[in-house]
Amino acid sequence: MTQTRKDRRVSLGSWPTPVEPAPRLARALGLNADDLWVKRDDLTGLGGGGNKVRKLEWTCGQALAEGATVLVTTGAAQSNHARLTAAAGARLGLDVVLVLAGDPPSPAAGNLVLDGLLGATAVWAGGLPGSELLAKAAELAEQLRRRGDVPALIPFGGSSVLGARGYAECGRELRAQVPALRTVVTALGSGGTMAGLVAELGAERVLGVDCGAAPDPGRTVARFAAGVSGRPCPPEDLRIRHDQIGEGYSHLTGPVMDALVLAARTEGLVLDPVYTGRALAGLAAAVRDGDVVPGERTVLLHSGGLPGLFGHPAALRQAEAALYGERPSRS
Ligand SMILES: Cc1ncc(COP(=O)(O)O)c(C=O)c1O
Repeated sequence: MTQTRKDRRVSLGSWPTPVEPAPRLARALGLNADDLWVKRDDLTGLGGGGNKVRKLEWTCGQALAEGATVLVTTGAAQSNHARLTAAAGARLGLDVVLVLAGDPPSPAAGNLVLDGLLGATAVWAGGLPGSELLAKAAELAEQLRRRGDVPALIPFGGSSVLGARGYAECGRELRAQVPALRTVVTALGSGGTMAGLVAELGAERVLGVDCGAAPDPGRTVARFAAGVSGRPCPPEDLRIRHDQIGEGYSHLTGPVMDALVLAARTEGLVLDPVYTGRALAGLAAAVRDGDVVPGERTVLLHSGGLPGLFGHPAALRQAEAALYGERPSRS
């Protein structure tokens, strides 16, 4: 772990993450073989890997500078951010409390199993609406403070101006790794990932695929991107697709299932049903409607999320159907 007074970032991951060609996937999408590259941010190293590690390097750095003894954050039951906050806490010797939406599923699966293994305490919010999770986390932090702990609230999805700085760094890696980069495609949830990329690469080079995790993500991305770059970022300049949400965040759509199968069978690349599968489905749609064209260099950001596949019953049913020879649904 390294930390300096000026730079509050702590080191939690392995950098730079690799960039790999994806020629068979490129051709299947209608691109030229050398047009498409994959940025492997699923290989960030900590706790099963994923995009949240880059943001946690900054938010945990600040927590440590403030003398925190316990990290408190919020998320869905299958939150990758919650899992990686648990891993960061373990790495840094801090306790972790996760305020999770809904009730505890039985048996626990996917990210939840790792949350337990990593030593986090889960507090279930029951019927509380998602918008009130943060208030519950703040209340819990107050109780911890009265008990003598020093809690640090890590924002939803790890996204804030500070957390998004981690993705400006990813943008700098991409500049060096992929000359002539035209478009990087990323899943868009709480906004910090896209915001950091936009801050470094410019709005015209980043295509966000909305996963339905938060209302009005464009405004959030614009605010964080402006905060990181120090330049205005009008929301209308952002390239965001909202066509892959389907019936909602945790719902598996036909195009996303097709994307999971395509990436797996062309490149041996395993995506997840909530985020990276949506990013690839959004890229496929962008090629169809001409927003991404052959002859230009495109990067698909693999932002992790594999444990969530094992906590997603609909995706597991579809994968099982494929194993036993039925065609995955295209509904
Ligand atoms: C695997 C994965 N990819 C992408 C995202 C989206 O990133 P952001 O929340 O920064 O928009 C998330 C957010 O939870 C995620 O878990």
